[in-house]
Amino acid sequence: MKVLVATEKPFAKVAIDGIKEVIEQAGFELALLEKYTEKAQLLSAVADADALIIRSDKVDEAVLKAAKNLKIVVRAGAGYDNVDLDAATQAGVCVMNTPGQNANAVAELALGLLVYGVRNLYNGTSGSELKGKKLGIHAYGNVGRNVARIAKGFGMDIYAYDAYCPKEVIEKDGVKACSSVEELYSTCQFISLHIPATPETTKSIGKRLVGSMPKGAFLLNTARKEVINEEELIALMEEREDIKYLTDIMPAANDTFAAKFAGRYFATPKKMGAQTAEANINAGIAAAKQIVAFIKDGVEKFRVNK
Ligand code: 3PG
Repeated sequence: MKVLVATEKPFAKVAIDGIKEVIEQAGFELALLEKYTEKAQLLSAVADADALIIRSDKVDEAVLKAAKNLKIVVRAGAGYDNVDLDAATQAGVCVMNTPGQNANAVAELALGLLVYGVRNLYNGTSGSELKGKKLGIHAYGNVGRNVARIAKGFGMDIYAYDAYCPKEVIEKDGVKACSSVEELYSTCQFISLHIPATPETTKSIGKRLVGSMPKGAFLLNTARKEVINEEELIALMEEREDIKYLTDIMPAANDTFAAKFAGRYFATPKKMGAQTAEANINAGIAAAKQIVAFIKDGVEKFRVNK
């Protein structure tokens, strides 16, 4: 039974060691394809794989076709918009994620971006503090909850909106639950995005919502670039010079943002929210264990396709 770890953005070595241990203890074999640059490398590496561990790596019809023995793909992480779920179902392949395993890492980075932003990108000028300011958490899942927990330490006034999470769950954490997404944006100077990329959320964050934010608005994105309507955000930031955009996912229009909005725009060169040894260990080992449990006992917990 061959388990392939295919990661364009590799795990920390200590995570690979942990994954190897889990896989080999089960009597399986581990293969590694790290830092690959061409899709052809992935297509050839999956040819004899029974199971696949990936991160943001794209698993589409071509990959599934090339992987003749494949039974399971585990996305070591939360968002699985990089996997063609229908094609996987058609190919009889189970797809899972590892929810929550890298949430703290992403949340810490979100707060780090926020501090960087309010301190004027550490340019030596006088910035502002977070204490007492309104933070809006858009989607209260694993990352959103960790953001709330950490932001409490900063003494922020925390709000959240989640279409799928009951108000009581949010309020139990001492967070104010907004009744609508409009209320969240019009109330909070700081918004942290934690929505997945789906057909419904694609380009959903633009002029209407960000334009309703109070003066000195900060939009933080540690979720997905696809959820932003980039054209609208650029036009809005031209109109409103108070708006800042800090993102861990480089926009398609990065060059335009960087050229037009120096000092109020920042993007990491590569998504690094989950790029910590701890998150790699948690998500990577969870993925390996899920594969072993699936192959040996048919356990389908965390399956995300039909
Ligand atoms: C996730 O969905 O788990 C995060 O966006 C992390 O993605 P990554 O594994 O590509 O860093």
